[in-house]
Amino acid sequence: MSLRTRKVVIIGAGHVGSHAGYALAAQGLAEEIVYIDVDQKKAEAQALDIADSAVYLPHRVVVTAGTYEDASDADLLIVAAGPLPDMSKGQTRMDTLRQTVEVVKDIVENIKKSGFHGILVSISNPADVIAHYIQTKLEYPKEKVLSTSTVLDSARLRRAISQEIGVDPKSIYAYALGEHGESQMVAWSTVMIAGKPILELIKQKPEKYGNLNLQELAEKGRAAGWHILGGKGSTEFGIGTAAAEVTRAIFSDEKRILPVSVFLDGEYGQRGVYASVPAVVGNKGIEEIIELNMTEEEKQRFHLSCEIMRENYQLACNL
Ligand code: LAC
Repeated sequence: MSLRTRKVVIIGAGHVGSHAGYALAAQGLAEEIVYIDVDQKKAEAQALDIADSAVYLPHRVVVTAGTYEDASDADLLIVAAGPLPDMSKGQTRMDTLRQTVEVVKDIVENIKKSGFHGILVSISNPADVIAHYIQTKLEYPKEKVLSTSTVLDSARLRRAISQEIGVDPKSIYAYALGEHGESQMVAWSTVMIAGKPILELIKQKPEKYGNLNLQELAEKGRAAGWHILGGKGSTEFGIGTAAAEVTRAIFSDEKRILPVSVFLDGEYGQRGVYASVPAVVGNKGIEEIIELNMTEEEKQRFHLSCEIMRENYQLACNL
């Protein structure tokens, strides 16, 4: 039996990267974590801070700051670099595309040189477009490049539904689909509470579910990131834990179904775009894409989200 150590390299030692690393350490999902950042001092500080916490965590993990040479034998690479949207200017995640592409161009060149051959999870916003851009420029297998994308928005949606109906979020199967951003959508016809469609529950138990405002719930899921960013200047814990959830599915070969952003090649009637849909995640990356049965109206909203991402991907490739 080979006692493999699970090595994760995190590119970007800011709010997102540091909380992703801490979530991996706290959940015992890696034996080695290496931070890479243009700000070497920050990378070293984040690594040291998490290494200190690991003394009192149940699992041993070695956390350091390093270089792209550390990526050569990494099992997983998390890309969490790039600017935050400037809310004072009304910027969306998609509006940071040009700035993020400038940052990611160098990252991709360095990853190529490093000989990295593991799975790549991209968080950097605009999440779906950047994941697609990285996969293209890296010329990497599509199934080995995915983004956390609406894994986070789906958690926010399930939390909002849970707060409304008093059922644990883990018993609520609801996905935000499409873009990790303004055009994300919820296919309510596919939302289940313990295997029962929520739309049926609303009809059968109007006294309990009749007042649910589905539009409002979807908005709560979509807008949560803005409330957090506006309140504390960044988002950290939700995205860090979402990254850990994806990492666990990969490292434990869980074949877990998560709404990660994946390359669509005909699924959902979409081609040539990365979008968040339920996909089976295991140690080879994306193993299967699950096609939900959406209504015509839902398909239209999903298509619109894909169109927006497709257009911005083309823009990114011409930068
Ligand atoms: C958020 C960032 C990660 O929604 O886009 O929290």
